[in-house]
Amino acid sequence: MIKYPYARPNVTSNDVIAVVKAMKNQFLTDGEIIKSFENDLSKAFKVKNSIVCNSGTAALHLIYKSLGLKKGDGILTTPITFLATANAAKMCDANVYFSDVDPNTGLMIPELIEEKLKNKKLKIKIVTIVHLGGRICNLEKISIITKKYKCFLVEDACHAPGAIYKTRNKQTTRVGSCKYSIASSFSFHAIKHITMGEGGCITTNNDNLSKKLKLKRSHSMQKNKKNIFNKPWYYEIEELGWNYRASEINCALGRSQLKRLSKILKTREKIAELYYKELHKFKYIEFPKNAFKPNSNAWHLFTILIDFKKYNLKRSNIIMQLEKKGIGSQVHYIPIFNQPFYKTKNKENFNGSLEYYEKNLSLPMYETLNRENVKFISNALKKIITKSLK
Ligand SMILES: Cc1ncc(COP(=O)(O)O)c(C=O)c1O
Repeated sequence: MIKYPYARPNVTSNDVIAVVKAMKNQFLTDGEIIKSFENDLSKAFKVKNSIVCNSGTAALHLIYKSLGLKKGDGILTTPITFLATANAAKMCDANVYFSDVDPNTGLMIPELIEEKLKNKKLKIKIVTIVHLGGRICNLEKISIITKKYKCFLVEDACHAPGAIYKTRNKQTTRVGSCKYSIASSFSFHAIKHITMGEGGCITTNNDNLSKKLKLKRSHSMQKNKKNIFNKPWYYEIEELGWNYRASEINCALGRSQLKRLSKILKTREKIAELYYKELHKFKYIEFPKNAFKPNSNAWHLFTILIDFKKYNLKRSNIIMQLEKKGIGSQVHYIPIFNQPFYKTKNKENFNGSLEYYEKNLSLPMYETLNRENVKFISNALKKIITKSLK
């Protein structure tokens, strides 16, 4: 049995009280809780508009659609992300292009983004960056490039809600504030920093975009737009939309969890520091550079890098041995260009992504891990690696 999964939710008794209260309300969807949750999110992220929906995937699809992404357009993103970042663009019939990542951090590289944007044939309309594992991309530099090439910059911020980004002038902004992007997407899936069970949200400072997102979230239905007073039931649609609404029950959970976001970020940072103490002197393990700079990582994942090839170690073997000791681990992610659905004939050079893929391993990271747990996991890992080297 897995005693320490690589991620797990933390639902407190206050969360349960909030959910039970929501279930006793007259409205189980489209009520007051979603509005309050959206207001709370806007305050927490210091942004004008928050639009809650029923998954991070829905959030991305709504953003892409509302920005007008369509057949013949392109989006540029990272291959080292969860499928949803790219799939949501395929749902718009757009072409998905990938830009290689830094083999050490797994993050997109501004210069390589620019290389791709120079190719006008690709018709790239949107660049979607991912703050992988909670490590923040170079927002300042990337936003200058996307402006230069007149593309929308979208942050897939599912791994980094409320994380702090420091500019070169030592100013700070929060991920979610959309200071550099047109919109940010978040997932409130069960294993994210805060959860709605399943859920997500979009933040944006663009009021027009916010209106479009809200309409598309609910079939693009406009109620009594024409003020037909003798037909109070009247509604109409001018374009396609979806049912991406979140129930009041899910929103009650998310809203209650959001109250603890700052605490959750601090706790995760402390757990990362405990791991660092246990593992940093161990020769075979490296960490992504700058991962431990204070307040610069939202620590969705605790990623270690091991040169499995160099040390003649088998990652699958290590994962299975950890599992025997009740420890879950995971690889984030299989490069999307290697998925059969995305495989193209023109083989590009994605050495950074392949290297990052081959080296990374995510160890358990969640709010309720304590010092002893981290020690147990770290010691088990060190023993397994040492034994495997013989
Ligand atoms: C980077 C990233 N983007 C998008 C998503 C999709 O979110 P959801 O599972 O809520 O649809 C995830 C989920 O794991 C993710 O990690």
